[in-house]
Order: sequence, then structure tokens, then C-alpha cells
Amino acid sequence: MEVTPLTGALGAEIRGVDLRDASENLIADLRDALARFHVLAVRDQQLSPSELSQLAQQFGPFSGNPIHVPLEGQEDVVKMVREADDDGPNIGGAWHMDLAWFKAPPGLTMLYAGETPPVGGDTLFADLTDAFAALSPTMRGFLEGLTSIHSAQDVYATNAAVRAVSVQPDAKAVSKIETEHPLVCRHPATDEPYLLINSTIRCFKGMSEAESRAIVTFLLEHAVRPEFTCRLRWYDGTLGLWENSCLLHHAIDDYAGHRRVMYRTTVAGERPRAAAEAA
Ligand SMILES: [Fe+2]
Repeated sequence: MEVTPLTGALGAEIRGVDLRDASENLIADLRDALARFHVLAVRDQQLSPSELSQLAQQFGPFSGNPIHVPLEGQEDVVKMVREADDDGPNIGGAWHMDLAWFKAPPGLTMLYAGETPPVGGDTLFADLTDAFAALSPTMRGFLEGLTSIHSAQDVYATNAAVRAVSVQPDAKAVSKIETEHPLVCRHPATDEPYLLINSTIRCFKGMSEAESRAIVTFLLEHAVRPEFTCRLRWYDGTLGLWENSCLLHHAIDDYAGHRRVMYRTTVAGERPRAAAEAA
């Protein structure tokens, strides 16, 4: 397995492996690489949707996804197709984590590139462990006491507005879901503190929406400073996998006139633990 780091912050390219029928040793090596680099781009794969699902299950059970209509016969895989003539909004075209309003947000997102534009459609990632570490001790201490209330209110509308995916008939029900998470959590693999920040935060417990918004806006800007990020370029056959609940990601909309086909699945994560709690 050949590992090439992408930036000083996070991300690595992996070459020289075949993920079909992956051995336990290979899965263990990938887990180690994930804990170190947080985002992996495994190049030159040939995965059918069922092989993608099989691989994901070696990392853990499917997280569930009440929003998107899955592939027929493969309930844990969503096919995302952006047609060449689709000039509507891009799915994932803002900094976010997937399904952050779950009680236990997916720990891992896997995205397999079936058809990529000749150039464009890269994904940006930001490391929320680095972002937390770069704050002043006073700010860190203040943030450690906060509990966020995440709302799925905008999630349904955002997904219903894009053509790349279909929403499930009863997906609108998620609009009412509100979930509490500590703002500063402990990384499940490394135990390091990280900021569980996302645009789904409506407010902090015990604070007004206006007060909360000022803090969320600052933290979202801070978290995506260039030195905390990497940029992943996709080619046909790239499998991207990342620690969804410890990162933000952003899908860049710069490939108008080209078709892009991606297959996504998400692996269940653990309920975020407050950094202030004993490890
Ligand atoms: Fe996403």
C-alpha cells in the first residue's frame, strides 16, 4: 500500500491496493491511515455498488439515510447523478458534514467516483481537530461548556431542490428533528478534542439564536482556514473515504457542461462524546 499525504493538515492518496474482497489486514491498514490522515483517496478501483456496500460493511453497519432514495436493490447506496445540462444547485455545495443531526452521525462517508468531468468537481475537506487546537485557551475553555442544538430543518429543502438525488416520500418529516451534541468532542480514534461545528446548529443551549449565530459564523469561518484543509481531485475509480463527523467538506461546483456520477454510502458512527468527559 503506497500512501502519499496530500497536505500538511490532512488527506492522503492510496495506491497499490484492490478493495474488492479486502482482507482484514487491509481494512486494519486503512483504519490506521484514516486515524492519521482523516481523508483517503484510494485510486484506480473498480467497485460495483454491491462491492462498495460490502467494503463499507467491513468498517461497520450502514448508518441509515432517511433522506435519499437508494439504488434499487442496494438500500445503503445512493447514486448521485449530475447531468451535463443541470445548471441548478449543486449537492453538498457548502461546508457541511453528512447527517450531523443524527444522534450518532455517520462516522465514515464513502464516495465512489463512477464518472468524473475532465476537470473540476473536487471536494474540499477541513480538519476540525486542527481548527480547535488553533484557538486560544480562553476560547477553547468557553466552547467546551457549550451544547449545540442541530436542526434538520433546511436539510430536506436543500436536498429536495437538487436534481442529482431523489428524496424519499416521507423525508419531509426530518425537518422537525432537533438533536443535541457537545460542541467540543473527543475524536473516536485518537481521543483528541475537535469542534463539532456545522451549519445545522440552530443555537446553543441556554443562548439566543442571535448570540449563537455570531459564534457559529465565527467558528465556521475559522474552521476552514486554508492551513486546516486539503483538496481531493476525483478520477473515475477513485474511492474517497473520510471521518465524516470530525471534518467539514465542500463539493465544488465548477464543471458545468459535464456529467458526474458518484455512489455514496455512510457507515454508522458513535454518539459524539464531550471532550470535557473523562476519556
Ligand atoms: Fe456531503
